[in-house]
Amino acid sequence: MFRTLATAALMALVAASAQAQSVQNGEKVFKKCKACHKIGDTAANSVGPVLTGVVGRVAGSYPGYKYSSDMRAAGESGLTWDASTIFDYLADPTRYLRRVLDDPNAKAKMRFKLKSEQDRRAVIEYLASFSTAANETTVAQNVFCVVNASDRAHFFAIETREGDRQFGPLEPGARLCSAETAASDGVVSVFESEDGFEGCSRIVAVGVAEEMKEYAEFDRCLWSSNEG
Ligand code: HEC
Repeated sequence: MFRTLATAALMALVAASAQAQSVQNGEKVFKKCKACHKIGDTAANSVGPVLTGVVGRVAGSYPGYKYSSDMRAAGESGLTWDASTIFDYLADPTRYLRRVLDDPNAKAKMRFKLKSEQDRRAVIEYLASFSTAANETTVAQNVFCVVNASDRAHFFAIETREGDRQFGPLEPGARLCSAETAASDGVVSVFESEDGFEGCSRIVAVGVAEEMKEYAEFDRCLWSSNEG
């Protein structure tokens, strides 16, 4: 018994230090991305969108960045960034978008390819180390967000008072934020799945990340703001 525990603890330690190692390697690889992308709490959009929190984010959804129409279409058709989608995208962004959109004329705005599989894995570990925890509830002052704090994937939509909509499936822990808005609140909705008709909606104040804790039909979902 003691031995099993000791072995498990040792293996966890080895795994943790291997991960720390690849985060470090990833930081080196990220130098190649820095010409176009910023990452961290105070990062701003530049040639490319901010990559803070990109793991778990719907493609083409970072507030205030002008994406190519093909990238927005990919997000609207359900593309979410995770380790495997980023891995394929980085190898050849245009070829990847063509495959996802099933459109031979699709074109990526990102003119950069990362061939090495090892470098791609390392840089993804680095990106993941900046992904926001699901329970972090502060967001920029002119957007609002919804976090899937339930234990299953659901389909989310978020709409500003100006009528700008973002939507897509969110894995547990992932978040979706609105476009920048001049209003003081907006609406978030969740559906059981992409083709579910009935869902729950909630008005959320700007600057807040509302957590959807448990999905139920109509407006019986459990949200962080109606808990207890
Ligand atoms: C020469 C500039 C450039 C370099 C270098 C570059 N990118 Fe990009 N990247 C972009 C642009 C521009 C976009 C927006 C693509 C679009 O709208 O189609 C983008 C988009 C992305 C996205 C999708 C983000 C989203 O919000 O949907 C990811 C992920 C990404 N890049 C990762 C990387 C990583 C990791 C590296 C380094 C290994 C890298 N990029 C290097 C310009 C670059």
